[in-house]
Amino acid sequence: ALERTFSIIKPDATRRNLTGAIVKKFEDAGLRVVAQKRIHLTKAQAGEFYKVHAERPFYDELCEFMASAPIVAQVLEGENAIAKNREVMGATNPADAEAGTIRAEFAESVGENSVHGSDAPETAAVEIAYFFSGLELVG
Ligand code: CMP
Repeated sequence: ALERTFSIIKPDATRRNLTGAIVKKFEDAGLRVVAQKRIHLTKAQAGEFYKVHAERPFYDELCEFMASAPIVAQVLEGENAIAKNREVMGATNPADAEAGTIRAEFAESVGENSVHGSDAPETAAVEIAYFFSGLELVG
C-alpha cells in the first residue's frame, strides 16, 4: 500500500554534510520526499520525541546528541514506505547493517547512526504530527 513514514537525518550526518547523499539513497529506493525541514531541536524537544525510550540507560545521551546540531526532519512516501525506509537505513547498530545501507556507509556508532525511521504505521502518524502540519505535506 502507499504509505508515509517519518525520517530524521541526524546531527552526525548533517555535521558531515551528508544530507544530499542520504536523500539520494531514499529517492533511489523509490521513496519520495513529501515534506522536509532543517531544524535545531532543543534537548527538551528531543526528549519529548524519544519519550518511549525515557527509561533506557542511553536516553540522556540520545537527547543531548539529537540537540547537538541541526537535523533534517522528513516525510517519505511510497509503496510500503515504512519497511522500505527501514531496509535502506539498515540495522540500528552500523556493525550489523548490511553493505550498501545508509548506516553501513555513514553511521558512526549505535547512538550516532545518521538516520531515524518510524517502526510502524501508528508511530509514523504520531511522529509526522509532532513535526509537520497537514499543510506541509505535499505529495
Ligand atoms: P532511533 O531509530 O532513532 O531510535 C532510538 C535511538 O536510540 C536509536 O535510533 C539509536 O540511535 C539510539 N540507541 C539505541 N541503542 C543505543 C545505545 N545502546 N546507546 C546509545 N544510543 C542508542
